[in-house]
Amino acid sequence: MSEIRVCGYRPLSGEIKIQGSKNGVLPMLAASILQKGTVQFTNVPIIQDVACMVGILEFMGCRCRLEGSRLSVDASEIEHTQIPKEDVGKMRSSILVMGALLGRKKRAVTWYPGGCTIGSRPIDLHLKAFSCLGVQVKEEEGRVEAFADTLNGSRIVFPFPSVGATENALLAAVLAEGETEISGAAKEPEIESLCRFLNQMGADIRGIGSGRLRIRGVKELHGTEFEVPGDRIAAGTYLIAVAAAGGEAGILNAPWEDMQEVVQVLRAVGATVEPFSGKPKRAGIEIKMKGRPKAIHLATGPYPEFPTDLQSPMLAVLTRAEGTSIIEERVFEARFKTVGELWKMGAQIEIMGNRAVIYGKNRLRGTDVKAWDLRGGAALAAAALAAQGETRISDCIYIERGYEDICRDLRCLNGAIERLSP
Ligand code: UD1
Repeated sequence: MSEIRVCGYRPLSGEIKIQGSKNGVLPMLAASILQKGTVQFTNVPIIQDVACMVGILEFMGCRCRLEGSRLSVDASEIEHTQIPKEDVGKMRSSILVMGALLGRKKRAVTWYPGGCTIGSRPIDLHLKAFSCLGVQVKEEEGRVEAFADTLNGSRIVFPFPSVGATENALLAAVLAEGETEISGAAKEPEIESLCRFLNQMGADIRGIGSGRLRIRGVKELHGTEFEVPGDRIAAGTYLIAVAAAGGEAGILNAPWEDMQEVVQVLRAVGATVEPFSGKPKRAGIEIKMKGRPKAIHLATGPYPEFPTDLQSPMLAVLTRAEGTSIIEERVFEARFKTVGELWKMGAQIEIMGNRAVIYGKNRLRGTDVKAWDLRGGAALAAAALAAQGETRISDCIYIERGYEDICRDLRCLNGAIERLSP
């Protein structure tokens, strides 16, 4: 069983370069099957979810080559239109291959997706978007089959923003006949980078960055080169770890523009957060944190609001705050599983529906805890760095789905953290 050991209660300091974005690269990998040549990605994060997506693409018939953080995807031949069931169970983003398969082959078969256990996570909006484009969908005992003779551009209206459904709608629409308009689209930076990537391959998408995307279908797409942007959630995790444990750090490659709400929240808890000013001049963010955090009220929401993926890490900070804080989770209904683990470390948190009330105390204490999901696991690492004594985090395999090497990164920040078993 994979385990991480942390000896906490000492301030962090140092610099790290942030990995490429997990949520950015996954839809782009799916999108690469829309073209019949080769796509070259750089700055690809070496994480489990990327390995899983590459496995799915290879199963479809793509030839993929990963060298360091460079990945090439040759999608000249796509033989299969079925996504392997075991991969679907491992990773929710496998659903994104569906939109791309529909665009390329007009047929896709999948199963209800897996991923982190943070809520019911239905796919009704994805299927609704496909139906709007003229796709027929048959669902039977968890198997979902979608097919069409032609995909026809249409108006897709989402009742609320869904990142995955917006991405799937885009993937299915770029090669459809005629024009598509997606209203109520999610505005996350990862959608913006997906649109830029698709346009670079020859797609015609306008309104990028807004909630109303307009797509003019094109006949075909071509290969290209693309650099995966820095991971704003990994960057946020490390900034939050510094806010929890104290100290100062430079997080290179962190996308400052995309992280304004996170910056505001960190400033509200008492940290000094600025664009990276070190030499040589590079993109990034620096943070300084002295003393105990201040208590705050925080609500998660779709971008540009505070990201739900950083909600659990923020819990770790607020357990140490002076006063009582509230976090309202407004994206997923079951994202407080990590609270039970923080209790074991001495945190005082009450859950009331979708709200966590956090009664701050001076210090947490290290103990044995378990990662329940990707971001919750990372939150425990942040809490452990702030806690007195030793913490062991079991099931850290979840953390590896999204972080290249959380121990390596936090050791660069002087954290006493190591992975114990295989
Ligand atoms: C993506 C991110 C995830 C992040 C989430 C919200 C990736 C790979 N994952 O997940 O890290 O936490 O955005 O920022 O990019 N919903 C429906 N029906 C649907 C689809 C979604 O009801 O068909 C609901 C979900 O249950 C949730 C909300 O919409 O309550 C938002 O989910 P969504 O934006 O779709 O999240 P994901 O794309 O799964």
